[in-house]
Amino acid sequence: VKHRNLKNLLDQMTLDEKIAQLIQLAVPFYEGADGDGLITGPMASLGITEETVHNSGSVLGMAGASETINVQRAHLNNNRLGIPLLMMADIVHGFKTIFPVPLAIGCSWDMELAEKSAEIAAKEASVSGVHVTYAPMADLVRDPRWGRVVESTGEDPYLNSEFARAFVRGFQGTDLSGDTDRVAACVKHFAAYGAAEAGRDYNTVDLSDRQMREFYLPAYKAALDEGCEMVMTSFNTVDGIPATGNSKLMRKLLREEWGFDGIIISDWGAVKELIAHGIAADESEAAAKAIKAGVDIEMMTSCYVKHLSELVDAKEVDVALIDEAVLRILTLKQKLGLFDNPYRAADPEREKDIVFCEEHRETARELAVKSCVLLKNEGALPLKGDRSIALIGPFARNGDVLGPWSWTGSKDDAVKLDAGLRSKMSGSLTVADGCGIETATEEQWQEALAAAQAAETIVLALGEHSDMSGEAGCRADIRLPEIQLELVRKIKSLGKPIVVVLFNGRPLDLHGVYEEADAVLEAWYPGSEAGNAIADLLFGDANPEGRLTMSFPYSVGQVPVYYNAYNTGRPQGAPDAQVRYVSQYLDIPNEPLLPFGFGLGYSEFEYGDAALSSEVITKDEQLRVSVTLTNKGSRAGVETVQMYVRDMSGEVVRPVKELKDFRKVALRPGESREIQFTLSEKQLRYYHSDLTHDSDAGAFVAYVGPNSKTNAALPFKLVK
Ligand code: IFM
Repeated sequence: VKHRNLKNLLDQMTLDEKIAQLIQLAVPFYEGADGDGLITGPMASLGITEETVHNSGSVLGMAGASETINVQRAHLNNNRLGIPLLMMADIVHGFKTIFPVPLAIGCSWDMELAEKSAEIAAKEASVSGVHVTYAPMADLVRDPRWGRVVESTGEDPYLNSEFARAFVRGFQGTDLSGDTDRVAACVKHFAAYGAAEAGRDYNTVDLSDRQMREFYLPAYKAALDEGCEMVMTSFNTVDGIPATGNSKLMRKLLREEWGFDGIIISDWGAVKELIAHGIAADESEAAAKAIKAGVDIEMMTSCYVKHLSELVDAKEVDVALIDEAVLRILTLKQKLGLFDNPYRAADPEREKDIVFCEEHRETARELAVKSCVLLKNEGALPLKGDRSIALIGPFARNGDVLGPWSWTGSKDDAVKLDAGLRSKMSGSLTVADGCGIETATEEQWQEALAAAQAAETIVLALGEHSDMSGEAGCRADIRLPEIQLELVRKIKSLGKPIVVVLFNGRPLDLHGVYEEADAVLEAWYPGSEAGNAIADLLFGDANPEGRLTMSFPYSVGQVPVYYNAYNTGRPQGAPDAQVRYVSQYLDIPNEPLLPFGFGLGYSEFEYGDAALSSEVITKDEQLRVSVTLTNKGSRAGVETVQMYVRDMSGEVVRPVKELKDFRKVALRPGESREIQFTLSEKQLRYYHSDLTHDSDAGAFVAYVGPNSKTNAALPFKLVK
């Protein structure tokens, strides 16, 4: 890579040219673009000049080799100093080859495949002209009303951190400069966007510093520890200050404490939104607050370009803040090799070979198989391909299986469920919609009933439209739409075995489905290979191995309900608990319908008695936790053995369980294996009230089992 002297370049730039580097604009602003690209926020008039566009630093939402080359070429013709554009886009779970949505990838508990999916996404995106992806999304989530839970890997800080690392490794590789098949990653949304009150998007977040550090911050930090190049701010407030104007979050935590030196970008419009939040009187104050707090790039509003210059003149903003932001942007351009080859890997010919190639689709199928979670099976699965099956429901032949953030993918190219089933059947398959997602016609009912009557088994393909989750996709009622529940009731009345396959972007309240069905497979949005992957599982060519990483509530009234909660002073089920004065609901259980870590397969795993190597752990001596696992079933399968710990007496209250480690274990029928975990003092540390990260001497309990409800308790002590 030929290096430009960036300091010299900076010195040649006028103040206006520098400030223009800090704006990020969507595709419609650029010469050479074919269309509008992806618009992911409100398109208000920005009131900017053509000169600003010519000097702007980055574009969002564009992809496609020819288009990105054209735009870059036109830009370089118009830019006095020949500074190329950075092309950024949301490549979240695949580019053209669409992988399962992140919540589903989370359920695979498979870091290697998650990394591989990001590597493939990077390769396809890069050859199509993208330099930076706005991923991974590392927001911890607890409230399924929030539409964006679909973009997260779930409710556990340890697992989320492992996934954040895996995604960053996959996107960036180990040599971003040399390896043009990779793209830079931008972890988002900093910080704690997933804790929006009442599960309503963009809503207030108010958490203690301790909660932030214990649950919400670890995954962002993990991404940065893995070398993630950029950070995106979140839309929400954190302790009264919007993240995008929050210098405690950006300057103190990210820059000073964590030493992050990459680019911080606002989310779409979030700088100007400081006005609506009520911490800036006008655009000028919004610009001053955001740059002082640490935002380098302002996405899709123009407070910086309109006001930073006058703020510098008025000595309100130090020009050094602008210089350092510009230098960070130039540094990433340099790292990506854009000064030598502004088109980087964009190549219309190679694009044709790489994008959506067979090899990538095979990985998509593999990951989709591993991401589906079997929630119930009372003998209806696996299906037999020589029987007659009626496939009924709004997802029976629907291409809406890619999920949110799959704008570069194609629903038409996705394998629909009917095609997947048909490819494995010698018996008859009848397909009927039964209803739409939210409405039905009499004809649809009749067609479905006729199909069901004629078949031995019924597969109901139900779910949410992909716009019912994702950004601004929040729901207060998280059941399936009533028309689909009615379909379940009608079909149930026929008394035939029912297998439900669910396509949705959040844990649902499954009443009206779960108890009616003989088997339920949670498929989420499985991506391009949806139909094939689901057919692999339904017919038993693959054994389901997904495990939930977000609890399925018993009903929305419990939300947020998550496994790593505190015990309270009056826990339900305590030996001395009274009938009334207990932390509980009068009308529903405290427990979710399906807990974190839960999932079934076609094998039957038996856990022997777990054991500890010692009852004492010290700073220097680790513990070994072991258990023998046996596959008692008649099929080979994979079990996810999970190890949890509880600190019985901390300086502050501790969760009733915390996942510390897990192992995916493949066993043949009849095979047994001893599984061992090590536990060190380091893993027992947590944030104390003064925010120090340390462990407490005293009593602990380890648990090993198939999900977070395991109660095989192994007490031990930490001696310091
Ligand atoms: O990356 C996204 C973000 O997650 C939500 N708002 C728009 C951004 C850019 O598309």
